[in-house]
Amino acid sequence: MMPFNDLHAQYVALKESIDRRIQAVLDHGQYIMGPEVNELEERLADYVGVSDCVAVSSGTDSLLIAMMALDIGPGDEVVTTPFSFMATCETILLLGAKPVFVDILPRTYNMNPALLHGSITERTKAIMPVSLFGQCADMHSINKVAEKHALPVIEDAAQSFGAKHHGKRSCGLSIIGSTSFFPSKPLGCYGDGGALFTDDKDLARKFREIRAHGSLKRYHHTRVGINGRIDTIQAAILLAKLERFDWELNQREIVAQRYTQAIQSSSMVTTPFVDPANTSVYAQYTVEVADRNNYLDRLRKCDIPTAVHYPTPLHMQPVMTGMGFELGMFPVAERAAESVFSLPMGPDLKVVDQDRVVKALLE
Ligand SMILES: Cc1ncc(COP(=O)(O)O)c(C=O)c1O
Repeated sequence: MMPFNDLHAQYVALKESIDRRIQAVLDHGQYIMGPEVNELEERLADYVGVSDCVAVSSGTDSLLIAMMALDIGPGDEVVTTPFSFMATCETILLLGAKPVFVDILPRTYNMNPALLHGSITERTKAIMPVSLFGQCADMHSINKVAEKHALPVIEDAAQSFGAKHHGKRSCGLSIIGSTSFFPSKPLGCYGDGGALFTDDKDLARKFREIRAHGSLKRYHHTRVGINGRIDTIQAAILLAKLERFDWELNQREIVAQRYTQAIQSSSMVTTPFVDPANTSVYAQYTVEVADRNNYLDRLRKCDIPTAVHYPTPLHMQPVMTGMGFELGMFPVAERAAESVFSLPMGPDLKVVDQDRVVKALLE
């Protein structure tokens, strides 16, 4: 079976740099907060175009640290989207705060800014849009609403690192950007990792403090923190992967365009829509169909891997029972959860494999 996301081909292409970078860590032995972490943070802050990057242990911890830095806790509300990975909502719950959902736009699957104003109360402490499948939410409009209410915006950019919105990079579009380096993400490491981005020096200091058990000075703890550090080896791997990251983004775009050209003639399959203000890094190439199970069965029989992101919207997850949510509250997200699925995607996806996917899909 062809890989859903070919990480091995990427490793083969970058083997020399990755091996050399890992060996350097083994040689100096600073496995925790070694020099690669600082080097990575500088490179990524530059890439995104903000003053500070704080590399952390995962994209989940990065959301948690962001909200801890904003002192979000019990009684507070965070406005987010019901169509995302559980981490988005879970981190709000972990802090004892309440997720308030805003339905999505049907074509981009991202938060509908027109519905945002109506979801804000005096308990709202932050707005957390997700930039799903590789393209940014309408951060421009979301920021405008947030400004009116003097609320911070945390972009959950776990799936959109490298994407642009009105010419600016994802993660640098609001006061806090948060991303994930989970292996299958557009920029992935070989384990867990994530990063926070900001232009606010005070917030950056808080991120660093919380990342290290609430301390900026060893054994002097000034607030409640976590063990939120990224491993030096993961930072080293990311530095090697940055060497061909822009090439990879371009390849992803080429693969997506080939898919779209081949599929868009079908009246049965809806291809991804990228807002003209955006570029997508295609963390997923996600299509929409009316009878998803038939398509998934057929593709499986043709040995083509697929994935469903996500079959259940967050408000309908069993863990959310008793919180006042019911089916019908967020109809656009609910319909998307029933009809979307993702095709194999990646910078190393071969043309013959793309053709096989398209043939099996349209047959
Ligand atoms: C939208 C979104 N938010 C948060 C996360 C959490 O990131 P991580 O897996 O690095 O903890 C992910 C990915 O897994 C994600 O897709």
